[in-house]
Amino acid sequence: MKNRSLVSICDYNKDEQLKILEVSKEFEKKPKQRLLDGFVIASLFFEPSTRTRLSFESAINMLGGRIIGFTDAGSSSVKKGESLRDTIRTVNNYSDLIVMRHPLDGAARFASEVADIPIINAGDGANQHPTQTMLDLYTIMQTQNKLENLKVGFVGDLKYGRTVHSLTQALANFNCEFSFVAPNFLQIPTQYKEFLDEKGLKYETLANIHEVIPEVDILYMTRIQRERFSDPQEYEKVKDAYELKKSDMEPAKKNMKVLHPLPRVNEINIDVDSMPEAYYFQQALNGVFVRQAIVSMILGIK
Ligand code: CP
Repeated sequence: MKNRSLVSICDYNKDEQLKILEVSKEFEKKPKQRLLDGFVIASLFFEPSTRTRLSFESAINMLGGRIIGFTDAGSSSVKKGESLRDTIRTVNNYSDLIVMRHPLDGAARFASEVADIPIINAGDGANQHPTQTMLDLYTIMQTQNKLENLKVGFVGDLKYGRTVHSLTQALANFNCEFSFVAPNFLQIPTQYKEFLDEKGLKYETLANIHEVIPEVDILYMTRIQRERFSDPQEYEKVKDAYELKKSDMEPAKKNMKVLHPLPRVNEINIDVDSMPEAYYFQQALNGVFVRQAIVSMILGIK
């Protein structure tokens, strides 16, 4: 993985993904080590973020690395009309690695083609979010003690939800079975169904969350992504499609965990938060250890 960009989860094979999980476990045991002394990491966020940006910053700070960058492209020379190509080529001169979030699908791939240093995709439009996927895999392993042969229910905005796209592709390495629960308009795109078809994996598409709650090991809730809708009226029609409540959880399997990449809006009622099945805040914590592993491995320290 040394010096290799992480743009799509498919850029790293199953063994490499498992190695990241192994190294993440080491960091969970010992997150404060001065392994990144002298390294400068650029953090370029062209789109809002709380968890991804701050967990990368926390991860890098705990390892003694330095971070430069911006949290709002409006404070950079993008505001003056600078192209993404020129921004990346410039920041390339100032850092050892670029972590980048961008609203356009494919922006991170483009950046990796113009940069001499590795790019970590921190989310590009509705496309991919591979570091979220790695922390999701870590969390699933932590809660289920395995990744193989699980039943996973994805609920919400499966069309625009980049975390769903990259996690589906990663879990396809582990013979999982999938239930995609969404309003028709927000169902999982065809390319991901074809991906599963090619691997001979089972999946179903449906609209009713109550049908999957008794079946699944992981219930992966997602937010309806208002910012990706071109027509606000379409958003209004689906914005309240799902709200998971404590009373809905009664038929769940004993091992079932509710995950969510966060932020949530109203798709999980706060009365679920105190239930043993609710695991989304621990999931967010795991982002620190997993991102420590990814950065250290790409910089060749681990
Ligand atoms: N999960 C996630 O990407 O959250 P943020 O948008 O807060 O980074």
